[in-house]
Amino acid sequence: MNAIHVHGGKPLHGEVKIQGSKNAALPILAATILIKGTCIIKNCPHISDVECMIKLLRCVGCTVLWDGNDIVVDAISLRENRLPREYVTGMRSSVMMMGALLGRSKEVSLDYPGGCIIGERPIDIHIEALECMGARIERKENGLTAGAQSLKGCPIKLRFPSVGATENVILAAVTAQGVTILDNCAKEPEIISLCRFLQKAGAKISGIGSRRLIIEGIKELNPVIYTVEADRIVAGTYLLSVMAAGGKACLTHVPVEYMECVMQTAQLMGGDIQVDGNLLTVIREGKLKPLPYLKTEVYPGFPTDLQSVLLVALSLADGESLVKETIFNNRFRMAQELNRMGSDITVCGQDANIRGNRTLIGRSVVAEDLRGGAALTLAGICAQGDTFVNNYQYIERGYEDICRDFRLLGADVRRRCEETEIASKKEETE
Ligand code: UD1
Repeated sequence: MNAIHVHGGKPLHGEVKIQGSKNAALPILAATILIKGTCIIKNCPHISDVECMIKLLRCVGCTVLWDGNDIVVDAISLRENRLPREYVTGMRSSVMMMGALLGRSKEVSLDYPGGCIIGERPIDIHIEALECMGARIERKENGLTAGAQSLKGCPIKLRFPSVGATENVILAAVTAQGVTILDNCAKEPEIISLCRFLQKAGAKISGIGSRRLIIEGIKELNPVIYTVEADRIVAGTYLLSVMAAGGKACLTHVPVEYMECVMQTAQLMGGDIQVDGNLLTVIREGKLKPLPYLKTEVYPGFPTDLQSVLLVALSLADGESLVKETIFNNRFRMAQELNRMGSDITVCGQDANIRGNRTLIGRSVVAEDLRGGAALTLAGICAQGDTFVNNYQYIERGYEDICRDFRLLGADVRRRCEETEIASKKEETE
C-alpha cells in the first residue's frame, strides 16, 4: 500500500510556493477541446487528476505534451466521442468532457463520473441544463449518451449553484447558437478562471464572477496561452496546518483575493495573518481558539474542501466547536480516523461537534478521500510519535507533493511504500 510516514510533534516553520489550481486546470484542459489549434496551459499542477484529464484528451484525439508545468494541447482534429470507462469513473472532473465534446463534436458518450466518496454526487443539474440547450440525453444504467444537432443558447436557471454544472453549461454555450443567460450559477474562482481562458480565446462572456453569466455563442475560438491561477485550497491547507501545529510560515504565490473567508477564520482562531501582494505569512504562537459555529458554503463562504483540515485544528483548540457541512452529505468520514488518533468529534447528520484540547497520538490511519488524506497527514504532524497515512493515491490526486511541501515547513514527513504495510500490520497485532 502507498502511504505517508509522519513523525510528528513539532511546530511548522518555513516557506512554500503554492502550486497551480487543480479545480481551475481541469475544466480549462477540457475546454481546449473546443479550440481547433494548439493551446499552452501554464502552471498546471503535476497531480494524478491532471494526468487523468490528459489521458481523456488523448483518447478523443488530442496531442498532448507535458513540459515542466506547461501542458501543450493540440485539438486540431478529434476522432472519438466515447470516453473510456476507466478514466471517467476515476475522476469527477471527467464530466467536464460532456459540455466540451458536445460543443465541439455535438456528441458524447460516457459512464457516470467517479471521484472521491464525499457524498452523493449526481449530475442531474448538468443534464437538465444541457437538455435546455437542445441536447438529447439518453440515460442508461451505467452512463449516458448525449447528442445535439445544434446547441442553442437559452435562459437557464440552476436549482443549485453547482460548480461542475456551471462549467458544463459554459463549455456548451460558448460556441452554441445564440445567447445563454445562466442564472444562479456558481461563482467560485475556478469558474472565473475558465471564463478568462475562454475570453482570451475569443468567447463572449459577461457577468464573470457574478450569479448571472451571459454567454453569446460564437463560431470559433482561437488558440491561446493561459496561466492557471494558484490553488486556494492547497494554500488554505498549509495556512490551517500552521494554525493547527503552531509556528510561522510564508506561503508564496497565494491567491489571497480568493481566500478572504479562510484568512478571517484563521484570525478568529487566533492566527496572525499578514499579506503582502501574493505572499501570505501566517503565525500562530498563542492558544488556538475554538469556533462556536462555522458552516461550509459555496464561495465566498468557507470551502467544503478545507473542512477536514479545519477539524484537525479544532481538535487542538481551547474549547468546543461546531462545524456544519452544507455542500456534501458524507464529508465527515475522516473524523472516525481522527478520533482513533485521539480527537473527540461527534458527528450527527451534517453537524460535527469537536471538543478541543486533545492530544493526538500517531496511528496507522486510512485516507478515504483527497482532502481527508491531507487532513490526516496534518494530524500526524500534530501528533506524538509516528503516523502512517495509507491510500496516498487519494492525496496525489490534488497535491503535487504534500511530503515535499510539509518538509519545506520543517515537518518530518516522507513517502513509504511496502515498509508501511508491514509497519501497520505490526501495529494492528500489538
Ligand atoms: C467542485 C469541486 C470540489 C468542491 C465542490 C464544491 C472540482 C473538480 N471539484 O465539485 O472540489 O468540493 O465543487 O465547492 O472543481 N449536485 C447535485 N446535482 C448535480 C450537481 C451537483 O445535486 O447535478 C450537488 C452535489 O451532490 C453536491 C453539491 O451539489 O452536494 C455541490 O456540487 P458541485 O458544486 O457540483 O461540486 P463539484 O463540481 O462536483
